Amino acid sequence: EERDAFIAGLPKAELHLHIEGSLEPELMFALAQRNKVDIPFASVEEVRVAYDFSNLQDFLDIYYQGMGVLIEEQDFYDLTMAYLQRAKADNVRHVEIFFDPQGHTERGVAFETVISGITRALADGERDLGISYRLIMCFLRHLSEEDAFATLEEAMPYLGKIDGVGLDSSEVGHPPSKFERVFAKCRELGLKVVAHAGEEGPPEYVHEALDLLKVDRIDHGNRALEDDTLITRLADEGMCLTVCPLSNLKLCVIDDIHDHPIKTMLDHGIKATVNADDPSYFGGYVNDNFRAVTEALNLDRDHLLTLARNSFTGSFLDEVDKERHV
Ligand code: ADE
Ligand code: ZN
Repeated sequence: EERDAFIAGLPKAELHLHIEGSLEPELMFALAQRNKVDIPFASVEEVRVAYDFSNLQDFLDIYYQGMGVLIEEQDFYDLTMAYLQRAKADNVRHVEIFFDPQGHTERGVAFETVISGITRALADGERDLGISYRLIMCFLRHLSEEDAFATLEEAMPYLGKIDGVGLDSSEVGHPPSKFERVFAKCRELGLKVVAHAGEEGPPEYVHEALDLLKVDRIDHGNRALEDDTLITRLADEGMCLTVCPLSNLKLCVIDDIHDHPIKTMLDHGIKATVNADDPSYFGGYVNDNFRAVTEALNLDRDHLLTLARNSFTGSFLDEVDKERHV
């Protein structure tokens, strides 16, 4: 179809992508074998059947289990390179990927192993695939503030490789305010800051992300639309939202793709972008996400151009590099 070809050909940046969420079942099986790790699935088909979630926590339980096959530096390299090759096929020119160090250090995998495998692939991807990148370290919000500070301490020798910090995992019950002090420290260190907010959590959490964490972007932000003052504020401040349509559908943030709020966000003048979140778990990479909302909401070329342009202007690229892309 013509619109599909237009989407495929659009140069785009991906700003909301958990690298551990790009672990395809095939690679999970290969790594389980390579590392002699047991996984509770007999086949790739069984894995796909298990990816049926009724909320965020349902998914997170399987996501943390899935990353258990990642042990060696080469595993993190292979994971990241597989994602970059897939992103290249979707005409992604720039990526800002999340990683969850606490999901690995908790299991006895060294921080160094994780970051060196990921950054080695990112550097090779820039050289061989022409995809520029930023790396964002996420704190798991179901863990304590003290754990987040300890993770930041572990990251200190690698700050040259880390561009920003984020906040992910179980949202409800773990408001941004819990991490106000660690985020202040990160900003002092010159890191960019983002946070998942308003995915399952109330609009108040989006206010807190803006006011207490002083975020540079909001990840998801769906529930901000329940609050008129927030809508005006996000639009007026040019705040970028990294929206993930197929994730929202799979995690029952929306009941139907036709109810997806991204067109409403654009209509309000909010700088929304389209992203895959955890493509292997949610059944689609970035172009699949673009196609799903384009078809369901009947987006036109102007909408698509705006979404693609927003992905660059909302990125952490330098201004001159943004200009090259838009
Ligand atoms: N970790 C990975 N994907 C996530 C999501 N969509 N929300 C919160 N934490 C996550
Ligand atoms: Zn996410």
